[in-house]
Amino acid sequence: MSYLVLARKYRPKTFEEMVGQKAVVRTLQNAIKSDRVAQAYLFSGMRGVGKTTAARILAKALNCGRGPTPTPCNACDFCREIDDDHAVDYLEIDGASNRGIDDIRSLRELVKYKALRSRTKIIYIDEVHQITKDGFNALLKTLEEPPENTVFIFATTEFQKVPATIVSRCQHFEFKRASQREIMDHLAVVAEKEGLTISPYGLGLIAAAADGSLRDSQSLLDQAVAFCGERVEDEALKEILGTINRDLLFAFSSAVLAEQADRVFPLIEKVLDSGYDLRAFAKELIQHFRNLLVVRTMSRPEDILLFNPEDMNRLRAEAEKAADEELLRYLQALQAGEPNLRYSSNPQITLETLLVKLCHFRKLVPLKELIRDLEPAKKALGRADLASAPPPAGRNDGPAVPAVTTRKPFSGREPKPAGQTGASWGRPSDRPAPPPAPPVMPPPSRPAGPPRDGQTEAARKDPNVKMFLERMKGRIVSVEPTKGRREGGEE
Ligand SMILES: Nc1ncnc2c1ncn2[C@@H]1O[C@H](COP(=O)(O)OP(=O)(O)OP(=O)(O)O)[C@@H](O)[C@H]1O
Ligand SMILES: [Mg+2]
Ligand SMILES: [Zn+2]
Repeated sequence: MSYLVLARKYRPKTFEEMVGQKAVVRTLQNAIKSDRVAQAYLFSGMRGVGKTTAARILAKALNCGRGPTPTPCNACDFCREIDDDHAVDYLEIDGASNRGIDDIRSLRELVKYKALRSRTKIIYIDEVHQITKDGFNALLKTLEEPPENTVFIFATTEFQKVPATIVSRCQHFEFKRASQREIMDHLAVVAEKEGLTISPYGLGLIAAAADGSLRDSQSLLDQAVAFCGERVEDEALKEILGTINRDLLFAFSSAVLAEQADRVFPLIEKVLDSGYDLRAFAKELIQHFRNLLVVRTMSRPEDILLFNPEDMNRLRAEAEKAADEELLRYLQALQAGEPNLRYSSNPQITLETLLVKLCHFRKLVPLKELIRDLEPAKKALGRADLASAPPPAGRNDGPAVPAVTTRKPFSGREPKPAGQTGASWGRPSDRPAPPPAPPVMPPPSRPAGPPRDGQTEAARKDPNVKMFLERMKGRIVSVEPTKGRREGGEE
């Protein structure tokens, strides 16, 4: 006997067996119970979420030997004929290949005749959005004067392409994409019935790749079994699914956490060489940083992350390298950068700059923080200023602290040039600072009054100033964009 693919073998036979789609199921069952079944339905939703399945169950429900019932028996002739694909009064028509006016005309001829053997004739037109304009017009006539005891069910994966004139004559149901959890639970049941061994992590990989489609998830499971046999190994699955190699993701996160921007470029080349789409890769990377944050934040991350113990330990070790708030900042920056990548004409450069930026993140000090840290130092300088020198010229009424920014006091580690300018980019602190608005420090180009060596000397001895200088070593000041203001604004 020929092999029946899982997606067909496990097509739900009753409304109860359908995964998700609770609202659709409930409304249809109530309509049958109260004898208020509409003459035309429109089922919309992505591929493989149950549109055809629901149509078939509805057809059985209306014609089952037990009378119209929300729970068809699946044993009478009519139920079985539908399940076996040879019911005479249930027609499945492909709108993509029967799209012209002539096709619709012959359909109209067909519906003139009453159901041969059952109470209700059901006509299911798949991918209805593919029908031509003339075809739709012909169809409209039929919908305006629908033949008795005939139910039309139109299905589409592209609802927005169905003319409003058709939509308004139908009861519309939107089929939801299945959640990852729903898919995993469903696959676990199928795997058990089929006697397959597959880890929850493996089920998670398939569910993620199926991207909301139950049919796709079952087809992928089929593919995995064909490749591995009944014991489906995680590694083999990764190969089949073309999932981004974990090692590569870890290579990126460790470059970022070690602040080694020079590693970013060869790694991106490697991603491209491996044939991955950069946008898809970026999504995986975001997920990877999210996993690191989960591991860093939760006491029992295994409750929500489905990794085998080995992968989990690896994640833990990686997450240990950064503080929670740092991981949070990396994740936020990656997420903020993702849309740019989607619309970029050169995703490689966009991703490279984003990742280099991430490598410099620890050196970036938000301007707000800088000002906060500067306050005690400013006070200390003020005291020195009063004692030894006249107040500086310039619009700041407070004492000047030019030595802090202009005399290269932070000559600890030489920060590399950022390679990109922009609102959230700072500049190396040993270069003159840009004039942020409103400037707390006078711009370096402005002379800060007469030489005040005694003043700076005294100030440098002050523990607050010392601490500030220490903190600022090798840092880059970042000016975070604020709402409604893109450039260099401190609110
Ligand atoms: N809600 C669901 N619950 C359980 N299994 C489902 C569900 N939806 C789809 N499936 C599985 O996927 C297979 C295909 O489903 P179905 O033909 O109903 O999808 P569809 O929405 O009509 O997709 P398409 O738009 O590609 O025609 C089913 O045989 C079943 O195995
Ligand atoms: Mg279908
Ligand atoms: Zn029946």
